[in-house]
Amino acid sequence: MRKTRLLLLLFFGAALIWRPISLQAMDTEVDTIDELVSMFDESTCMDCHEEIHNQWAQSWHAQSVVSSLGSIHNFIEIGIKKEWETEVTKGHLLKCLDCHAPVINFASEKLAVEIADMIVTATKEKDTPAGEAAKKELAKLKVGCLSCHNLKALTVAPGWNGPREEGMIYGPHGEDAGDAHETLESIDMTRAAFCMQCHGIYTAADGETIQCNTLSGSYQNAYVAKGGSKTCQECHMDKGHYFPGGRDLDTVKQGIGFDVQINPYRHLPGQIKDVKDEKQWVPSAVVTVFIENRAGHRIPDG
Ligand code: HEC
Ligand code: HEC
Ligand code: HEC
Ligand code: HEC
Ligand code: HEC
Repeated sequence: MRKTRLLLLLFFGAALIWRPISLQAMDTEVDTIDELVSMFDESTCMDCHEEIHNQWAQSWHAQSVVSSLGSIHNFIEIGIKKEWETEVTKGHLLKCLDCHAPVINFASEKLAVEIADMIVTATKEKDTPAGEAAKKELAKLKVGCLSCHNLKALTVAPGWNGPREEGMIYGPHGEDAGDAHETLESIDMTRAAFCMQCHGIYTAADGETIQCNTLSGSYQNAYVAKGGSKTCQECHMDKGHYFPGGRDLDTVKQGIGFDVQINPYRHLPGQIKDVKDEKQWVPSAVVTVFIENRAGHRIPDG
């Protein structure tokens, strides 16, 4: 009995730390992309944070839906419609977009289905006016300022700052911004775990675990385990909000100097095109969370 309890506690502890809270319970839901965008209006941020805005605009975070359209399309058309033989729902779409465009949590079911249709149109009818128009709409969805500084700012250590507040800007210091906006310090934002909630293993509302291409596993197992102590932010944000990665030559060159073993691997969604005939698309990737490796027991999935 005691043993069971201990195991449960371990599991609970791990789940508390590593399982991002689903934002799905939100009651505000809107019917158009424009309403969704204006709920988290970021057009004003650049008035005062111009440099950061320009950096971010060049980062992959600013293209996080349009640069992945093909795979999300395959997930919808092949994964959901063909393999699962079911209609697309918001729940399905969140399995990709909770990370690729967190504002989707506030879309109504109707809007979510429309967005799924747009993704299909933008891919299938690429280079036609209809396809271009769909892509233009979809480009409004991204990992924007407020995806990080509000929506996902507290999901690592829930409860630390109390519940998420609408309009609050969470940042690394909570520096006073005068009349511009309220700020609150979120220590989460300075930690690797903040990045890992998206660059790591994701548990959907229905318990399915999904892992997109991610380095968090090797960060934990090959870097931290060998004494590495830098956070993701220290390496990837030392020049600001560009978030350079494997497509940035300077960062790749730096990688040669660092004693860090990075084993990028392209996981299923990115490969689905090549493997579709082999039916290798496994909607439920069974993955072993690093924390459980250290604790030496498996965390049951689901
Ligand atoms: C846990 C959050 C998360 C979920 C869920 C997720 N992704 Fe990703 N995805 C990421 C991150 C983070 C990256 C960038 C990883 C990298 O470059 O190493 C990424 C990268 C990608 C890329 C490569 C992008 C590029 O420009 O080359 C594609 C394609 C992709 N994801 C498709 C999908 C699809 C399809 C789904 C749903 C089945 C999905 N993702 C679900 C976080 C996620
Ligand atoms: C992918 C997540 C992410 C996105 C998107 C993002 N930020 Fe940040 N931002 C961070 C993190 C993490 C930090 C804290 C970095 C640190 O100091 O450890 C930060 C720090 C900041 C700071 C404090 C800078 C300082 O030097 O103290 C400001 C201001 C800021 N961000 C504004 C913005 C604005 C404006 C946007 C949109 C144009 C934006 N951020 C987009 C993650 C993000
Ligand atoms: C009217 C000017 C103004 C606007 C508009 C503005 N900010 Fe700020 N912001 C500030 C000032 C001033 C500070 C205080 C620190 C500094 O000078 O950078 C600040 C600080 C921050 C910080 C750092 C908080 C910390 O932890 O110290 C973040 C993050 C941030 N702003 C994000 C945003 C985002 C996201 C937007 C758009 C939704 C935005 N800001 C719009 C003026 C502004
Ligand atoms: C809300 C989810 C989310 C958060 C939080 C997040 N990212 Fe990302 N990140 C993504 C997605 C999605 C992509 C893939 C964009 C694409 O290529 O289409 C990405 C792309 C990147 C890339 C570019 C990868 C490449 O292939 O060049 C880097 C580097 C990166 N993120 C680093 C970070 C760091 C560091 C943090 C923490 C400070 C962070 N991210 C936080 C979702 C997130
Ligand atoms: C010690 C410095 C360092 C740390 C710590 C670090 N990275 Fe990196 N990261 C790099 C370098 C250098 C590269 C480029 C390596 C390459 O592609 O050759 C890179 C590449 C990436 C890429 C692009 C991978 C791709 O497929 O193109 C992503 C995404 C990323 N890192 C995210 C993260 C996240 C998330 C964390 C924290 C969990 C993290 N990194 C921790 C240095 C670091």
